Amino acid sequence: MMSSLISIIGVTIMMLTISPMLTLLTVGMLPVSAGISAFIASRSQKFFVRQQNILGQLNGHVEETFTGHTIVKAYGLEHEAEAAFKEVNEELYANGWKAQFVSGTIMPLIRFVGNIGYVVIAVVGGVFVTQGTMTIGNVQAFMQYSRQFSMPITQLASIANILQSTVAAAERVFELLDEEEEAADQPDATALLEPKGKIGLRDVSFGYDADKYVLKDLNLDVDPDQLIAIVGPTGAGKTTLVNLLMRFYDVEQGTITFDGHNILHLKRSNLRTMFGMVLQDTWLFEGSIRDNIAYGREGASEQEIIEAAKAAHVDHFIRTLPQGYDTVLTEDATSISQGQRQLLTIARAILADPTVLILDEATSSVDTRTERLIQGAMARLMEGRTSFVIAHRLSTILDADRILVMNQGEIVEQGTHQELLEQKGFYAELYNSQFVATLA
Ligand SMILES: Nc1ncnc2c1ncn2[C@@H]1O[C@H](COP(=O)(O)OP(=O)(O)OP(=O)(O)O)[C@@H](O)[C@H]1O
Ligand SMILES: [Mg+2]
Repeated sequence: MMSSLISIIGVTIMMLTISPMLTLLTVGMLPVSAGISAFIASRSQKFFVRQQNILGQLNGHVEETFTGHTIVKAYGLEHEAEAAFKEVNEELYANGWKAQFVSGTIMPLIRFVGNIGYVVIAVVGGVFVTQGTMTIGNVQAFMQYSRQFSMPITQLASIANILQSTVAAAERVFELLDEEEEAADQPDATALLEPKGKIGLRDVSFGYDADKYVLKDLNLDVDPDQLIAIVGPTGAGKTTLVNLLMRFYDVEQGTITFDGHNILHLKRSNLRTMFGMVLQDTWLFEGSIRDNIAYGREGASEQEIIEAAKAAHVDHFIRTLPQGYDTVLTEDATSISQGQRQLLTIARAILADPTVLILDEATSSVDTRTERLIQGAMARLMEGRTSFVIAHRLSTILDADRILVMNQGEIVEQGTHQELLEQKGFYAELYNSQFVATLA
């Protein structure tokens, strides 16, 4: 750009010294070129935008069918998946060539205009020579300059298609960047240095959509060291409650307090370090088992990692692997079973040693015997820390200090296992149905 700019300025000065009249003609060609470029670019831009959109769709489709290829095969939908790919691909092709074709006409057209200008200068210059107002050498020099003058513009036109697809791609990136940001921490947000793990909920109501409440008027007090179990049917709002505690969403009505501080006045990063979470859908990354467990805490020693693995009852399994703790997991960790993956994430949470532990269906894929063993370890771990355990298998939460029974966003019952059974309410029904089901 710099060299083009400098040569345009230099060439313009030279042209002016030779003949202001011819310079005017040359410069007069500029708006024509610009007009043509703008006209064509506006025509082809919509194809570029569509091309970029469809490219996104195509990648999405490939990724989806590739990660879910066992499901695709199990349902015998290979042909459908292929057909869907073909359809999107055809569309990409159609838009792609139109975009390239239309945008590709800019360059020849600009050249054409440039050449017309060349001819005009030659003719007008010739007339000047016959009139004796200009020497033939000057006309020749001027023609050279006019070529140099239009060169940068022609160059720009020749990469018009690249520029246009870049603009279309950038638009999609900006769409993402323009998304509303998570509300920033309040300026006076504090950090708790010695968290205890006392949690309180006051009249908390929340809905993902403004018109539909998922949680209604929730009240709850949890003391440090307590083990709180949350049970309830699918869709009752258990995970939603966890999302609110961790501030993945902010409450609209009511307040949640941590050690007596409204969590809205705490730094998000600080709040989240106090929680350790194990979720149903495990997340392991490509790396060794050791690194995956150590993810819970920076700078954990080998000894601590092994202890955490032992507590999660996964140490034995790891040692049976040929490479032990150095075994490298693939990105989706398909080389180990679902239950083993859960155990690894539990070991990670154990190592992190958080103030509050949240287990959302953390042992759902583990067999009942291993689950029992982990519970023993957990019981020791939960001493001195607040724990929330969400479980569908009620056998796992019998020792909880308090069981919250949720249904349709409300806490319908709470108490210990024994108290709830005696109430013969929702919980008793839930428990008995599982008990009968197990017997059958
Ligand atoms: N991101 C979301 N946007 C809109 N609605 C949501 C969202 N997440 C959950 N919901 C809705 O909120 C309700 C409660 O969901 P939640 O995940 O808390 O249930 P849950 O009790 O954890 O169920 P499960 O036992 O199946 O895990 C459901 O009706 C669900 O459809
Ligand atoms: Mg859930």
